[in-house]
Amino acid sequence: MHKLLLLTGTIATLVVHTLAHARVTTPTPRKLGTAAQTACGAAVYQVLTSDLTGPLENAKAKIDATYDAEACHLYFCRGAQYEDNVSNTRVYTPGTVVPFHIDLEAHHTGWANVSVVNLATQTPIARLFTWPVYANESLGPSEWPKNETDFQVTIPNLGEQCSQPNACAIQWWWYSGYSNHQTYENCVDFTQ
Ligand SMILES: *[C@@H]1O[C@H](CO)[C@@H](O)[C@H](O)[C@H]1NC(C)=O
Ligand SMILES: *[C@@H]1O[C@H](CO)[C@@H](O)[C@H](O)[C@H]1NC(C)=O
Ligand SMILES: *[C@@H]1O[C@H](CO)[C@@H](O)[C@H](O)[C@H]1NC(C)=O
Ligand SMILES: *[C@@H]1O[C@H](CO)[C@@H](O)[C@H](O)[C@H]1NC(C)=O
Repeated sequence: MHKLLLLTGTIATLVVHTLAHARVTTPTPRKLGTAAQTACGAAVYQVLTSDLTGPLENAKAKIDATYDAEACHLYFCRGAQYEDNVSNTRVYTPGTVVPFHIDLEAHHTGWANVSVVNLATQTPIARLFTWPVYANESLGPSEWPKNETDFQVTIPNLGEQCSQPNACAIQWWWYSGYSNHQTYENCVDFTQ
């Protein structure tokens, strides 16, 4: 019995480990907090927070009656709510070079990009970085392109579009469309 429990525990650990995928760690992205918990419901929130690198599809699978589709947008900024991390809004003047680091835990071949997004309409307004192929799982560590985990973006002149808080964010987006069809996102809030 003890051995069985131990084995089950080991398998659970392995499963949790292979479920870890990727997230932005620099700049620190918008945090998940109580506003997200209220909007997304406890079950979805639990999945989102138990593995910050996990795919959105794992959280989607837990959508229940407490999920408020008007408020929680799983496929936009990972369901994170601006109110939960207002103090994390940066100021990026035109031409600011912003270094990014991605914690890429597991490779699943897909494509990715980084865009300035309009938070009200949930649409991209400027493309800052594009990977036509991202996280190719056929490559070994020595072949991994460095810019999949460390890269820089230059903030364009966005006119007046991003002058107010909660108008714009930089969204990193990865879809493992050549592999297991999973979506990963983080948003960095800013004004200009
Ligand atoms: C929001 O993010 C900043 C920067 O990471 C952090 O210092 C602050 O504690 C966060 N606020 C909340 C409410 O989590
Ligand atoms: C770029 O990212 C957006 C999400 O912001 C996504 O909807 C779009 O399909 C991506 N485009 C490409 C070409 O990867
Ligand atoms: C992934 O890498 C392998 C090995 O280099 C290559 O054959 C394959 O075309 C790559 N996948 C994509 C989608 O480019
Ligand atoms: C990312 O790095 C790869 C090679 O590792 C290069 O081919 C590609 O042009 C780089 N992408 C950008 C947007 O600089």
